Amino acid sequence: MAGYHSPQIDVAVRLNTNESPEPPPAGFAEAVAEGVLAIDWHRYPERAASELRARIGATYGLSEAQVFAANGSNEVLQTLLLTFAGPGRVSAVFEPTYALHSHLSRVTGTTVIQGERADDFSIDLAEVERVVTDHEPDVVFLCSPNNPTGVVDTPDTIRAVLEMVKGSGGLLCVDEAYGQFSDFSAVELLDEGTPLVVSRTYSKTWAMAAARLGYLLAPDWVVRELDKVVLPYHLDAMTQIAGTVALDYLDAMHDRVERLVEERGRLVERLADLPLEVWPSGANFVLIRPANHDGNTVWQGLVDRSVLVRNCSTWPRLDGCLRITIGTPEEDDRLLDALTEVLA
Ligand SMILES: Cc1ncc(COP(=O)(O)O)c(C=O)c1O
Repeated sequence: MAGYHSPQIDVAVRLNTNESPEPPPAGFAEAVAEGVLAIDWHRYPERAASELRARIGATYGLSEAQVFAANGSNEVLQTLLLTFAGPGRVSAVFEPTYALHSHLSRVTGTTVIQGERADDFSIDLAEVERVVTDHEPDVVFLCSPNNPTGVVDTPDTIRAVLEMVKGSGGLLCVDEAYGQFSDFSAVELLDEGTPLVVSRTYSKTWAMAAARLGYLLAPDWVVRELDKVVLPYHLDAMTQIAGTVALDYLDAMHDRVERLVEERGRLVERLADLPLEVWPSGANFVLIRPANHDGNTVWQGLVDRSVLVRNCSTWPRLDGCLRITIGTPEEDDRLLDALTEVLA
């Protein structure tokens, strides 16, 4: 099987991995450093990460028992698959979507069923029904806003998929890595009797990709099972501290989301003047398809001008497409200048 490939090239403008273009708020690093100085380094970290889980839960009106935290949402998703899927079991994804859902499924020995999205990349409920009825997947993934297309699932879509998954005895995982950008969160559908989990990350809008921290909001019976499977002491003391301190800066994080949404609007408006197709996005990135140009050539032309975006041009159904992370206004202006030159 192929591994995870996303070239990291040393360039001036990095718009390829949907990180926050700004560092965390002033005072954050100092507060983390203070916590780190107080760590008992000869002791294992607190195994259950109780304070972190309780603080995350409180921001959603949930209890510690309904939160599972791990080293990035990728580790969260891997633990979910190790626990509820694996050899002899089935997961379902709807393409094009986040490649790690099917990759982690394969890594855990899970059989992956790849359903298709509609032409506009929205979820096609008839296709979900077909997949769920024919394969009765143990874990079904949705991703909203969806990476790499930016499409946000409507509340009705998520509710309808949840009903189907419930009917077949599976578990629905809604990956909300970019959920801060969306008006609706599946978190409001969580309850103890519903087979629904929602994953989120500190890596994107929360400006903490370096820390590797993600979490899952779920009924407590799901979290109890995940705790049995995950490695003991998997979440180190520094990460727990960083994740807890970050929650003191919720207002600054919400301001950041607002600024990025405004900047996304400006970027999309400027992109509309260029010879390319641009998809409406509910995330901190946009998907484009340059007209009359091969995606690889445009990607290389941007790299030659020290701008790195994600090349999706060889991915199924994304022929010629590039995904651009929203940067600072200065970074986005450099991207626009480079793109204008390459497409001229
Ligand atoms: C949809 C989605 N889910 C999960 C992740 C993984 O995030 P992390 O492991 O950094 O929390 C990403 C990162 O690109 C993503 O796009």
